[in-house]
Amino acid sequence: TQYSFILTEQRGRVGLITLNRPEALNALSDAMGHEILAAAQVYDDDAGIGAIVITGSSRAFAAGADIKEMAHMSSVEMYQANWFSVWDELARVRTPIVAAVAGHALGGGCELAMIADFIIAADNAKFGQPEIKLGVIPGMGGTQRLTRAVGKAKAMEMMLTGRVMGAVEAEQSGLVARVVPLDSLLEDAMATADAIASMSKTVAMIAKEAVNAAFETTLAEGVRHERRGIYSCFATEDQKEGMAAFMEKRAANFKHR
Ligand code: HXC
Repeated sequence: TQYSFILTEQRGRVGLITLNRPEALNALSDAMGHEILAAAQVYDDDAGIGAIVITGSSRAFAAGADIKEMAHMSSVEMYQANWFSVWDELARVRTPIVAAVAGHALGGGCELAMIADFIIAADNAKFGQPEIKLGVIPGMGGTQRLTRAVGKAKAMEMMLTGRVMGAVEAEQSGLVARVVPLDSLLEDAMATADAIASMSKTVAMIAKEAVNAAFETTLAEGVRHERRGIYSCFATEDQKEGMAAFMEKRAANFKHR
């Protein structure tokens, strides 16, 4: 497929999506959102892909939704178009997604990173939800996902003042899994994704679904969800292989079935 605003590349079992709108610091236009979703869905449907990495440039992961595109829109236009709903669909992709974030991850950029399953940040990464400075609030899930990630105090402060958080603070507050030097960001994220992709894809998807249930349900229902998940793992060939490999003291060779 030919895309205009992203680059895609398969490396082994990892599907890489690189945001590529440098003249706008990867501002997420509607068209770009649809390309990101389309690329992620192609990878999701591909049994040969076990993990997805989304990255930007060293200067900007993404500086937000495209302000110039939205500036003159009306509320009714947005409502009729179901604006931003493309991102809800991205959140429904079942293959694990790693965000490799360098530079600005602001507004929709921060929200896109949080739609991924976890974030690996370069030391120059900057996260923020500065929408209030534009007279709006986040629209791609930021009020919910940032609050769940860092708690009410920091989320409120950031969303009410527009303050931006650096990589170290982001790691300390639980927004990012790990901070790495900018020079090794992509290498590290790809190696991490490769490790995920070497596991059973079915089981990785079951694990992702179960962790995400923690954000949707009560503890008792979440544990029930997990229990159903682990029982279903025993229906896979990969569970038989994984446990046989342990007992035979060799590396598992998952067939992703
Ligand atoms: C459209 C953007 C953009 C954006 C940057 N650009 N961010 N275009 N939408 N979100 C464009 C600039 O207009 C400029 O193009 C080019 O990218 C380079 O940006 P500069 O500002 O010249 O770069 P710099 O001085 O390095 O400053 C970087 C920056 C700043 C601090 C990231 O660009 C910035 O503050 N951007 C907006 C951040 C933001 O508010 N994001 C939230 C958006 S709202 P030209 O051609 O003009 O020179 C959102 C959700 C909205 O995401 C949901 C509710 C509706």
